[in-house]
Amino acid sequence: AAISGAGLGPARPARRALPASPSQLPCSNFVFLSGITYLDHAGSALFPESLLKAFTDDLRDNVYGNPHSQNISSRLTHDTIEHVRYRILQHFHTSAEDYTVIFTSGCTAALKLVAEAFPWIPEGTKQPSSRFCYLTDSHTSVVGMRGITSSMNVLSVPVKPKEMLLSEKNTLPPEEQNCTTPHLFSYPAQSNFSGTKYPLSWIHDIKSGKLCPTEIPGKWFVLLDAASYVSTSPLDLGVHQADFIPISFYKIFGFPTGLGALLVSNRIAPFLRKSYFGGGTAAAYLAGEDFYFPQKSIAERFEDGTVSFLDIIALKHGFDVLERLTGGMENIKQHTFALAHYTYTVLSTLKYANGAPVVRIYCDTDFSSPDVQGPIINFNILDENGEVIGFSQVDKMASLYNIHLRTGCFCNTGACQMHLGISNEDIRRNLQAGHVCGDDVDVIDGRPTGSVRISFGYMSTFEDAQSFLKFIIATRFSKSDTAVPFQSSVTKLPTESVKSPVQDDYSSCNNANKLAPRMHILDRDLWDSSPAAVKTVKWQPQGTETESIRAAVSETAVPTWRRGGKPITVTNIYLYPIKSCSAFEVAEWPVGNQGLLYDRNWMVVNQNGVCITQKQEPRLCLINPSIDLKQNIMIIQAEENPGKEAVICESKVCSHRVKTYDCGERIAGWLSTFLGRSCRLIRQSSDIKSNKHQKNAKGLTPATSISLSLVNEAQYLLINVASISHLKDHISARLEEPLEIQELIPRFRANLVISAPESFEEEEWAEISVGSLRFQVVGPCSRCQIICIDQQSGERNKEFLQSLSAARGRKVSVILQSSRIARSGECFASLGHATMVVLQRTGPAAF
Ligand SMILES: *Cc1c(COP(=O)(O)O)cnc(C)c1O
Ligand SMILES: *[C@@H]1O[C@H](CO)[C@@H](O)[C@H](O)[C@H]1NC(C)=O
Ligand SMILES: *[C@@H]1O[C@H](CO)[C@@H](O)[C@H](O)[C@H]1NC(C)=O
Repeated sequence: AAISGAGLGPARPARRALPASPSQLPCSNFVFLSGITYLDHAGSALFPESLLKAFTDDLRDNVYGNPHSQNISSRLTHDTIEHVRYRILQHFHTSAEDYTVIFTSGCTAALKLVAEAFPWIPEGTKQPSSRFCYLTDSHTSVVGMRGITSSMNVLSVPVKPKEMLLSEKNTLPPEEQNCTTPHLFSYPAQSNFSGTKYPLSWIHDIKSGKLCPTEIPGKWFVLLDAASYVSTSPLDLGVHQADFIPISFYKIFGFPTGLGALLVSNRIAPFLRKSYFGGGTAAAYLAGEDFYFPQKSIAERFEDGTVSFLDIIALKHGFDVLERLTGGMENIKQHTFALAHYTYTVLSTLKYANGAPVVRIYCDTDFSSPDVQGPIINFNILDENGEVIGFSQVDKMASLYNIHLRTGCFCNTGACQMHLGISNEDIRRNLQAGHVCGDDVDVIDGRPTGSVRISFGYMSTFEDAQSFLKFIIATRFSKSDTAVPFQSSVTKLPTESVKSPVQDDYSSCNNANKLAPRMHILDRDLWDSSPAAVKTVKWQPQGTETESIRAAVSETAVPTWRRGGKPITVTNIYLYPIKSCSAFEVAEWPVGNQGLLYDRNWMVVNQNGVCITQKQEPRLCLINPSIDLKQNIMIIQAEENPGKEAVICESKVCSHRVKTYDCGERIAGWLSTFLGRSCRLIRQSSDIKSNKHQKNAKGLTPATSISLSLVNEAQYLLINVASISHLKDHISARLEEPLEIQELIPRFRANLVISAPESFEEEEWAEISVGSLRFQVVGPCSRCQIICIDQQSGERNKEFLQSLSAARGRKVSVILQSSRIARSGECFASLGHATMVVLQRTGPAAF
């Protein structure tokens, strides 16, 4: 059965179903994906578990030595690598007679190799010089080749896709037809921006001179950038005889990364130049004299050093598993296109109540067939007035829905400029305005600087497409918006009228694979006989900082004029000893030179030492650290299990050079049990200087480079109860349920909670004082998805960020920094004792 239904346009031809036996279904291989909608296959494919298993079994059963040695294990490696070369050639319907496989670290390295080794004829010789032509819709890595060619004095010529279609048959005068100057033309088989497939027939037409990118006489060679194309399409090199085909294997199999290949036609291979010779590329050479004789094998001549031989062996299992799970590339092509076509059709019919479209799709084809369009959709989301919603906003919302997509310009400036109508001048101006590739400046002067991309792979399911569409519908047609959902015929489609073999096969097993609920910590789960869910960490005192003295309210601070004129009080002081864990409320607290003493001094890291935050692990908020200044211990308590204290970590600061130190096995075991994943607790051991905060400093340049705690973005975060209260009304109205202000405040994870008479007046302050301490107000702070997590239960509700975005553009708190280094012993006086004084105001902040 084909996917078809009302409002979906013409039904597509029936597709071949993927293998139907449940044990072979791809989804049983992607258990770790449960709950996640992965839509960035053009960025990287995902690997199935069976690939890893086959690979590790292989490594366990065989001994693979260095392929350059002569013993038995080396022989095995060498032979296996040769076998993999044949397997790659077979995959592309060719053989070692016609093509050579050169292993590289990836597609980019393969492109660089072509640029260096191509037998260019530079400008200024008697012969006509070579040209390097490339399609403007090329990957950055292709465009970057011109850096190498220009250093070789070879001209490069960018060609627009339009120009290729208009290009006329070559009519060179006869005396020039014998010219042998080699030229190179490079184009992508599939744009990794829009998914457009450029005609493979160009290869033959360019080489035969029928299609001519420039008027220069000579012999044309074609570089087909197949990195994106081959991940979901079959490529037949027997028919389409490109001269150079660079690929990256993670785009096909998801694993291994850091391995690619250059397939070179044997017609040109012997003419490639080689100046460097590294380990393994030389047949013989003399170290003291200029004598070097290259390996006969072209592949080995270009594979500098020892190839990544275990990864190459993994490729074999990649091909096996891909074949077994899908039945081959043609099936993958049909399957992925069907998903993209469905998504495209629904997306392009979505409309607001006023008739305005919900998305603008950047696409050169009409999605009529998988021969002209790959499974990639590139778009921007619009509001009712046709204004683009910035891609970084879309990215943040998508992550709340556990949808992984790609945003930005995708390293393909050419395509980005063409589709978004960005001129060269705009790019230069944007750079001046501080926008660089890869940042999250998504709209400048109301115009987008990038877009959103979704892409499907062989393991994508119909449910993935549905989840994505539901996300768009949920975020664009929320209850409180005036827009009404689009026509009911389309609304029903995703769940009822669309049936496909793919959906049936996959959905049943996807449901069965829901993640097991996270382990609840029980006494008997703990690392030893201790019955406690309470752990303590002891540390060495940090000099004099621990001495806490209540400061008197400063007599010298002169308040400045404020609207209302009523006093401002500090109502709560919180610190967060462990990043992303629960707050520790104090009545008074010493300050260090990084902010509140011990604030965000510790963090929980995974087994590779990477920090875990609530974004990945909402349950961190259930871990309550508290600090006993007198005893120098931190007590860690998990919500569910109060119990007896036990001192478990008496580690010393090992050395000043070490930036963090580990709090030991026992606390790691306890945390791992609680969170149900392997993790450890580490602590910062010395001050880190950082000027990261400067991006927030609205023109304020701090006199000194201030210290931030290792994992802190700002020294202090302040919220005003009046502002939160204002927001509460807005969110309650939108969610149609009452909210408690006491439940809302902890979500902002502020250090200082104040009560000022007017909401948002804090945005107009420049300098304040609390007691004897003075602070500069650095600027508003942009909130992330953590505010969606209920700090009592660890549950997420994505409506929060949406409501906040709608109300305030995600900004509702301000960042402070000390105006000067605190004196030892200074501390916050608290709660009603301390009157906060505004010393200076700026104008109203711009929002
Ligand atoms: C991904 C990609 C590349 C670059 O591949 P790397 O693995 O990053 O070297 C080049 N061209 C296209 C079309 C791609 O999709
Ligand atoms: C074979 O050579 C490899 C690589 O040099 C070496 O690691 C291995 O120990 C050798 N094995 C034998 C049996 O000599
Ligand atoms: C091209 O080369 C062929 C063979 O080398 C020669 O016979 C012919 O005259 C050449 N033509 C021109 C126009 O130079």
